[in-house]
Parts: sequence; C-alpha cells; structure tokens
Amino acid sequence: MYNSIISITLFAASTLAIVIPSPAFNLPTGWEYSGCYTDSTQRRELNSDFYFDMGSKAMNAETCIPFCESRGFAVAGTEYSGECFCGPKIPLQMGTTGCYMPCAGDAMQVCGGPDRLTIYTSITTNPGPAGWVSKGCYTDNVSVRALTALEQVPGGSEQLTVAACTSTCGALGYTLAGVEYAGECFCGNEVQGMNVPFQGGCGMTCKGNSSEFCGGPNRLNLYAVA
Ligand SMILES: *[C@@H]1O[C@H](CO)[C@@H](O)[C@H](O)[C@H]1NC(C)=O
Ligand SMILES: *[C@@H]1O[C@H](CO)[C@@H](O)[C@H](O)[C@H]1NC(C)=O
Repeated sequence: MYNSIISITLFAASTLAIVIPSPAFNLPTGWEYSGCYTDSTQRRELNSDFYFDMGSKAMNAETCIPFCESRGFAVAGTEYSGECFCGPKIPLQMGTTGCYMPCAGDAMQVCGGPDRLTIYTSITTNPGPAGWVSKGCYTDNVSVRALTALEQVPGGSEQLTVAACTSTCGALGYTLAGVEYAGECFCGNEVQGMNVPFQGGCGMTCKGNSSEFCGGPNRLNLYAVA
C-alpha cells in the first residue's frame, strides 16, 4: 500500500521533472545571450576555432565562452550538446527554433541542436582604435546632425566597424568620427546643434563587427583624434 503510493508519487515527480533546457544566465562579464542561429556542417558559421566534448560531460556555456574568449573571439556558440565553436561575428541567419538539445555538461542548459547554434557574444564600446579615443554616446538630431558628413566606409555599410569609420574620417582630414544605427559613419570637426552626450540608446552592434557598439536610432558613438 505505502509502496504503491510512494511509487505513484515518484512517477508523478519524474514526469513533472521534464525540463526544457534554457540558455545560460550566469555568464562571464561582458557576455550576453544572443539567440539561436542556423549552422551547417558543410559551411560552419563560426569557423575560427572549435572543440568537441561529448565524453567528459563538461560542455556548457561556462566552458565554451572562456575557450573562445581566451583565443580572442567575441562570439561563442554551443551546438548538438557537445560542440563549441568560436568566431568574430554573429552568423547571418537566426534560427528561432531548433535549439533544444541539453548541454552534455548541464541538462538544464541548452546547447543548440542539429545545425543550430546557441550563440553568446561579448559586446563592448570600443575604447578607440589606435590614434582615436571614445567620447561616449551622443544624441544625433536628424534635422541638425551632430556630425554633418555622412561617409561610406570601404565595402559599404555592411562592413561598418568603429575602426573603419575612424580611418575613413581620418583619411578625409576630419578630427571627429561617429558611428550610428549599426551601419552609418559620420565625420566632422565639431559637434553641431544641440547634440549632447547621452546615457543610453547606443545599443546597436556594428554591421561589420558584432562585438562592438555602433550607436542607435538618433544616437552615435563619438570618437575624437587622440
Ligand atoms: C571588433 O570589436 C572589438 C571590440 O571593440 C575590437 O577589439 C576588435 O578590434 C574589432 N575588430 C575589428 C575587425 O574591427
Ligand atoms: C531637433 O532639432 C529641431 C530643430 O532645432 C528641434 O525642433 C527638434 O525638437 C529637435 N528634436 C529632438 C528630438 O531633439
């Protein structure tokens, strides 16, 4: 009698214990979860470095991220329970579904799926490429632009990085450079109009470097010649 009650209770408990693994939340400083992305074994999206670890049951975000970070990469992705891939840029195509496999090293945590990467990125405000220094986030009013010259970086807006913008502005003789709305590079010599330093709104990553910020809507990350 008691035995059967206990076994029914245990059965109910184990049924309820089916967990849907979720992305890791206790991440190394500066890293954040970026989503589920498609990958393919023929053409790896993150192909700068990798390791597979099914055997030791240690694969999870806490082991994959430091591996990629120590090799200088700002994007880390776990896939198919036991695979860790590193690269410099977030893959193009968001998977939205398909990341459901538990990590080999943590059944509560998701580690991608078949042809799916669970992606984590390290995003920072670039302190300034060589010869330039960050002046922070500024407002940019479209009717009175903070910096008046909108310039193309080599390769176009898809290739925008902070360094691409500062070198483009520098080559044209300007002393200020501003990156805005992920893909725009503005140059000038002084901040125009009523535009001022502003806390917040510079949260868009650069189209050409997903590990650094490139302003936002009506906001730019401003850089000055050092
Ligand atoms: C990408 O951004 C990071 C962070 O600002 C920076 O250290 C790195 O040099 C950048 N890479 C390129 C190619 O601009
Ligand atoms: C932008 O500048 C115009 C003209 O000075 C002003 O009327 C408008 O209020 C400004 N908009 C913002 C969002 O600051």
